[in-house]
Amino acid sequence: MKWEDRITNYVRATKFPRSLFVAGDGRVVGTWIMGNDYRVKSEYYGGYPAGYLKRIHSLFPDKYRVLHLFSGKVDLATLPGDTVDINPDLSPTYVDDAQRLERVPLAMYDLVLADPPYSVEDAERYQTTMVKRNTVLAALRGLSPGAHIVWLDQVLPMYRKDTFDVEAVIGMVKSTNHRFRVVTIFRRRATAAQRYDAPLLTDAAE
Ligand SMILES: C[S@@+](CC[C@H](N)C(=O)[O-])C[C@H]1O[C@@H](n2cnc3c(N)ncnc32)[C@H](O)[C@@H]1O
Repeated sequence: MKWEDRITNYVRATKFPRSLFVAGDGRVVGTWIMGNDYRVKSEYYGGYPAGYLKRIHSLFPDKYRVLHLFSGKVDLATLPGDTVDINPDLSPTYVDDAQRLERVPLAMYDLVLADPPYSVEDAERYQTTMVKRNTVLAALRGLSPGAHIVWLDQVLPMYRKDTFDVEAVIGMVKSTNHRFRVVTIFRRRATAAQRYDAPLLTDAAE
């Protein structure tokens, strides 16, 4: 699905004004102002603001195998999927450290939403240590080519350019006196071996 089509579906499904644009370099840029719709339904510290999941869902109508990473008390009624959290009390599908993801069959998911703690102080609220963002991105290389990661943070995590492309960068303003955040959308690239295989298969078919 092309990004122009994703954005068209976003406007149609959410009825929000068009606030995302494909830039000259092919990347999607834009800003979401959450307005009055910023409360966290579950009241969980750091939970997604109301409206966030609906926006993401509308951008990916073609994705059905969703994984919520750092899932907390994510609203699965709005965006159904499996969940990963380090805290077993939250009863996630997988209790796992996002920096390892040893128990998660990543290749079966085509959309990952990630909402890590943003700072040491935030991590303390969950009684965890702060994650190394680049280690999480490295663990996510087990995703299949074409899978997307929607990463909500105050930081653009370090990532390998031979493993992921950044397809979209969306600023997110919650309301006055709240932190400004950025939604970065990565796409898993094909591995070198897969890119090498493709023309060989074409040759064989001819
Ligand atoms: C910002 S909250 C996510 C809130 C969620 N988006 C929601 O709507 O409820 C971050 C979550 O990451 C979890 N977490 C912290 N460190 C983790 C790690 N290393 N691996 C997996 N989960 C972790 C915490 O337990 C917490 O539930």
